[in-house]
Amino acid sequence: MKVLVTGGLGFIGSHTVVELQNEGFEVIIIDNLSNSSIDVLDKITSITGIKPDYHNIDLKEKLAVKIFFEHNKVDGIIHFAASKAVGESVQMPLEYYENNIGSLIYILQEMKSNNLNNFIFSSSCTVYGQADKLPITESAPIKPAESPYGNTKQIGEEIIKDATKISELKAIALRYFNPIGAHPSAKIGELPIGVPQNLIPFVVQTAAGIRKELSIFGSDYDTPDGTAVRDYIHVVDLAKAHIVALKRLLQNNNKAQFEIFNLGTGKGNSVLEVIKSFEKVTGKKVNYKLVDRRAGDITAAYADTNYANTELGWKTELSLDEALLSAWKWQETLQ
Ligand code: WQD
Repeated sequence: MKVLVTGGLGFIGSHTVVELQNEGFEVIIIDNLSNSSIDVLDKITSITGIKPDYHNIDLKEKLAVKIFFEHNKVDGIIHFAASKAVGESVQMPLEYYENNIGSLIYILQEMKSNNLNNFIFSSSCTVYGQADKLPITESAPIKPAESPYGNTKQIGEEIIKDATKISELKAIALRYFNPIGAHPSAKIGELPIGVPQNLIPFVVQTAAGIRKELSIFGSDYDTPDGTAVRDYIHVVDLAKAHIVALKRLLQNNNKAQFEIFNLGTGKGNSVLEVIKSFEKVTGKKVNYKLVDRRAGDITAAYADTNYANTELGWKTELSLDEALLSAWKWQETLQ
C-alpha cells in the first residue's frame, strides 16, 4: 500500500512516516521545506532503514499538484502540510489562507479527478476555542476561531465535508490536542524556527541555557495552580493514531464518509505541572517568571478520548514524563 504524506518532513509528519514504514506502508513525502529540513529525510531512513520517496513540491502550485498525481498513484493521503503558527497567522492571514486552504483544495481536486478516496486531515482542538464543558468531546460546539490559523482548520474541515458529498471521498479529521516530545531514537523531533512559540520547545531550550528564562503566560486562570491547562500528547502516540485511522479507511470500516476524532491523553496538565514533571525526569532546572496572559489563550482544554478509544480502537500509551524526557533527549542532540 502506497501512502502520500504531505508535510512528511515536519514534526508530526516525520513521526507518522516512521510509523507508516514500521507498518509496512510504502511512503511518498511531499514537503516544500518551508518549516522543515531535508536532513529529516535521512534521519527517517536511519530509523527505519527505508528511504521514503521525496518530492519538493509547493502544494500552492496547482499545476505541480496536478502533475504529481498524474505520475503517482497512491492508496491513501495524510495531509499535514500547512502553516501552523497561531501568532504568525494573525500577522499574515492571507498567506495562511492561501497556503492552508489553497493546498487542501488542489489536493482534493486531484483526488476527485484520479478517484483517490482515502484522506486523513490534520486538524486541531483549536477549533473548540474555550469549550464550555471539559473534557471536550467531538460534538462540542465549534467556536469562532481566535486566529486565522484556527480558522483554516475549521474551514478545511467544512471543505472536506462538502467534498465527500460530491464524490466517493472518505475522510477523517484528526483534532490534535498539544503534540509534544520526540522519537525515542532522538533522531527526529520538534525543530522550531527562531524563538519557540510553543511551551515545550521553550522549556527545553531554557533548560539547555539557550533561553534565559521561560515566561509563563498567566497565573490567574481559574485552574488549580492558576496556570493554563492543556492535554499534552506524545507525538509517537499521535503518529500511531494516523495509522489506525488510515487502516480504518483502507479496510472500509468507517461508519460515514466524514469522521472526526479528538486525539489527546484525556488528562489536563498545567504549565507549572509540566515544568515540575520536566525537572523531575531530566534533573534540569527551568528558570521561569510569571507574566501576563498571552492574547488568544484559553484557560483549559483536554480531550474526552472515549470516541477515539472505542470507535477508532486507539489510546495513548506514553506518559507526560516520557514525552518530556524524550523532548529533552532530542534537545541534547541539537546542542
Ligand atoms: C501551551 C500553554 C501557553 C509558551 C497551540 C495551537 C494549537 C497547536 C499547539 C498547532 C499555554 C503556555 C506557552 C510560553 C507559556 N498548534 N506557554 N509560555 O497555545 O495550547 O496551542 O499550539 O497545531 O493549535 O493553538 O500551545 O504550546 O503555545 O501553549 O506559558 O513561552 O503554555 O500560554 O497555556 P497552545 P502552546
